[in-house]
Amino acid sequence: MSEMPIGIFDSGLGGISLLREAVSILPNENYIFYGDNLHAPYGDKTDDEIAKLSFDSVNYLVSKGVKAVVLACNTATAASIRALRDDKRLDLPIISLEPAIKPACEKPGDGKILMMATLATTRLKRYKALQSRMPDPSRVINVPCPGLVEMVERGTFAPEAYYDILYKLLNKYNGMKIDGIVLGCTHYIFIKSAIERYAKSNFKGECAFYDGNAATVRQLGRVLEANGLTNLNGNASVEFCTSGDRSKIYPIFELLMNHKENQSVKEEN
Ligand code: DGL
Repeated sequence: MSEMPIGIFDSGLGGISLLREAVSILPNENYIFYGDNLHAPYGDKTDDEIAKLSFDSVNYLVSKGVKAVVLACNTATAASIRALRDDKRLDLPIISLEPAIKPACEKPGDGKILMMATLATTRLKRYKALQSRMPDPSRVINVPCPGLVEMVERGTFAPEAYYDILYKLLNKYNGMKIDGIVLGCTHYIFIKSAIERYAKSNFKGECAFYDGNAATVRQLGRVLEANGLTNLNGNASVEFCTSGDRSKIYPIFELLMNHKENQSVKEEN
């Protein structure tokens, strides 16, 4: 059982950022990544649509024989984690990802925290409850970012390609003191340098960046251990699966798997 792979799922390419973290933190495991690229973006869909697609994706991974599933998608988590965990037919650990507003709010300062995420994440009750548990919930400004996921899905990574859309989404905060930006959607991790560039030229203060990937992978490690599922014999092999057009998506997958930390992805498809 412990030698079975771990399933990692996202609506599309964003979850590859979590997969990379998993491969580096838990290199003795094997992985199956499933991107539901055919249906991305999830963030503009209704709660019921997102929940249904999340169930279908988890069931797909279960049918491939995984021992645990990670939702590498803040949107799928917000819409469906409760129902997935309550479903008795899904008899395996399901680990989920949430916008990292907690570490961001722990940073001392009198500036605001921008939480960038999909429309659905910012609207859903689960995220709102998380925000309400922060010591000063009003420090967090939620910024729904329709349009960003579509660009990442098309394989656009050059920072300059994002200036206009980031201006449209963020210009009302120009000149404000921003202490942190939470990348509350896994897709945004691949365009961090574009967002950083925008923040440097338009916001005041030292702006730190936060995402939930490493904490989620550490939680995955703890859950595997608690369930006697830790693999000591794997070699971080990755099987890539997609509901989309594999011939177009696989080259981007490969590019993103080799993408180095703190280095923007230059290629565009
Ligand atoms: N990458 C996903 C997230 O973390 C969702 C993107 C989408 O499909 O809208 O929220």
